[in-house]
Amino acid sequence: MCGIIGYTGEGDPVMDVLMTGLSGLEYRGYDSAGVAVTDRARSSGDVSLFKREGELSSLEAALPDGSVDGAAGIGHTRWSTHGPPSDANAHPHTDCTGQVAVVHNGIIENFRELREDLESAGHDFESETDTEVVPHLIEDALAAGESPEEAFRTAVARLEGSYAVAAVVAGDETVYAARHESPLVLGVGEAGHFLASDVPAFIEYTDRVIYLDDGEFATVTPDGVSVTDARGNTIETSVETIAWDPEDAGKSGYDHYMLKEIYEQPDAIRGCLRERVAELSGSVEIPELDGISTTIPTVDARDGRPRPIQFVACGTSYHAALYGARLLRDRGVPAQCFIASEYATERVPVSEGTTVVGVTQSGETADTMRALREAGRAGAETLAVTNVVGSSAARECDHVVYIRAGPEIGVAATKTFASQQVALSMLAAALTDGGSQGLVQSLRAIPDGIQRVLDESDAREIAREYVDSDAYFFIGRGYDAPVSLEGALKMKEITYKHAEGFPAGELKHGPLALVTDRTPVFATITDHAEGDVSKTLGNVKEVEARGAPVVAVTDRRDLVEPFADHVLEVPSIGPAQTPILANVQLQLVSYWVANELGRSIDKPRNLAKSVTVE
Ligand code: AGP
Ligand code: GLU
Repeated sequence: MCGIIGYTGEGDPVMDVLMTGLSGLEYRGYDSAGVAVTDRARSSGDVSLFKREGELSSLEAALPDGSVDGAAGIGHTRWSTHGPPSDANAHPHTDCTGQVAVVHNGIIENFRELREDLESAGHDFESETDTEVVPHLIEDALAAGESPEEAFRTAVARLEGSYAVAAVVAGDETVYAARHESPLVLGVGEAGHFLASDVPAFIEYTDRVIYLDDGEFATVTPDGVSVTDARGNTIETSVETIAWDPEDAGKSGYDHYMLKEIYEQPDAIRGCLRERVAELSGSVEIPELDGISTTIPTVDARDGRPRPIQFVACGTSYHAALYGARLLRDRGVPAQCFIASEYATERVPVSEGTTVVGVTQSGETADTMRALREAGRAGAETLAVTNVVGSSAARECDHVVYIRAGPEIGVAATKTFASQQVALSMLAAALTDGGSQGLVQSLRAIPDGIQRVLDESDAREIAREYVDSDAYFFIGRGYDAPVSLEGALKMKEITYKHAEGFPAGELKHGPLALVTDRTPVFATITDHAEGDVSKTLGNVKEVEARGAPVVAVTDRRDLVEPFADHVLEVPSIGPAQTPILANVQLQLVSYWVANELGRSIDKPRNLAKSVTVE
C-alpha cells in the first residue's frame, strides 16, 4: 500500500501540486517518497526525478530551491514490499534512458521472470523493487516505435499481480495510468486534472472525481481525462462530487481510521496471500524464507525430532502468536508462546535448534525486541513476523516474513491482527508439510468471508443494546480462545469499559463470580474441533443461569441459536480460519460501543501505537 499522485495542467505549478498531494497521502505509507516531472517545453529532455528514503520532509529538503516547473508529474509515498526503504528503492523508477518514470502501488508477482528477461536483453536495474520492470518494459515498446500510450498498455499487459500504476514520458504532458486490485481515482479540476490512490491527495483542488475499476486505463491530459479498457475502447464514466471536509479526507469518508482499517481487511489479506499460495497444487511457499529451509527446518536432522519454536509478542500480537503456536502444535511441532516482557526473566531454555519468532506489527516494540535479542544471544535462530519493512525487528532478526497489511494508523490493531493470523497460518504450513489444497482454499476464502461479515453484520444494533453494561466477557475454546482474548482487549482499549476474555473452560474457575444480568457474554463458538461446540454451549448455559445476556459469534447458528440472545453469524470456511472471521464481528462490536460512547477511537487515552519502552 502506498500513495500515488499524478497531475497535469495549467493551474498550480506541477511540483507544488505533487508535494501537496503526497502530504495528503502520507498516511498510506511513509518510508520513502519521490516525484518525477516532464519538461513543459515539449522537448525530449530527461524526466526530472527527486526521491529520498524517509518521511516526506526528507524529499522536501532534497528539492532544489524554487519550484521546478514542468508539464506533467507523478509522485509516490512508499510502503515497501520488495526491497527495504532506501533512495534507490524509492519511486518513481526510470528506464535506462531516463525518459520514462513510473510509480506503482501493489505487488507485481511475475517481476522475477520479467526482470530476468529484461536484464538478459541488456537493461540495467538500479533497485530491488518489483516496480522497476515497468519503465523498462515501456522503454522497449517505445523503442519498437509505439506511442507512449501504446507502450504503456503493452507494458501493463505483461504484468501479473496487483497494481495501480502511473507513468510519464519525457516530452509529453500526459499521465498514463492503469489499475488492477489497487485503488486509483481521477480528479477533474478547472485548470488541471489529477489521479491519485485516494481523494485526500487532491481534495484541496477539486471535489469532482471518477473512480477507476479493475482493468481500466486512464489518460490524464491538460484538457481532460479519459478512461478506456485494455483494448483502448472508451468507457463511459460519471463524475461524482465528494462531500468531504479536507480534514477528514485521509479516512476516505469513514469516521475513524479504525473503521476504515476494519473494512480494509479483505484487501490486506489478499496482499498477504499474494505470491505465497498456489490453489492448484495446494502449496504454501514464503519466498522470504527461500534458501533458509536448511537453517530452520522444523525437524532436527540429528535425531529426526521436531525442533522447538517459541513465540514472543505483546498485546494483540501475542494473541496472534497464541494462534500461530496452536497451529504448529496441531502439526506436531513443540511450539510455545510467551509474553515478550516475561520471556527474558523467565529464563526460557533455548538451544541452537530453537527458533524464536517475534510477532510484532510495528517491529519496534521494546519488550519484543529485548526478548528477540536475548534469544539470539542464547543461540536461537530468530524470525520476525512484522508489518514494517526495515523496522528494527526486520533488520535484527535472522529472517523476516512480512504480513503486508499496509500502514495501520488507528492505535487499536485490527487489520494487522488478521494479517498476522494469515501469515502465521502460511508459516506453519511452510515450515511443516508445505500446505494442502484444503488449506489454500480456506485461506483464499478469508477475504470474501470477511467481506460478508462486513456487509451483513448486526454488530451495531448489538452495541446499541449493550452499551450501558457494567462489563463484557468473551469466551471461546481452541482457535476461538485467542479471538476471545483479542475481543476483550479491543473492547477495553477503545471503550474504557471493563472487559475480560477467557478460554471458555476457565470461566467457572473464578470469573463466573462477576457474571450478572449486566455483563453480556460474547461466546465465540466456531465448529473446529469435535466436542468443542457442545462444551462451550455448556459454559454458555452456566452464564445464562446467572442471568447474563449471551451473544454468540458462530458458524453453527443451527446448534447455538436456542441458547443465545443474539447470534452474530460468520461463514464457515475452515476449522482454523472461521475464527478469523469471528474476530471481525468482535472488532465491529467494540467499535460501535466506543462510537456510542463518543470515545477517542483512533487515539485511546494513555495508549501509543508503538511502545518503545520496556
Ligand atoms: C493492540 O490494539 C495494541 N495497540 C497493542 O496491544 C499492540 O498490539 C502491542 O503493543 C504490540 O505491538 P506490536 O505488534 O507493534 O509489537
Ligand atoms: N511493491 C512496490 C515496492 O515495494 C510498491 C509498494 C507500495 O505499494 O508502496 O516498492
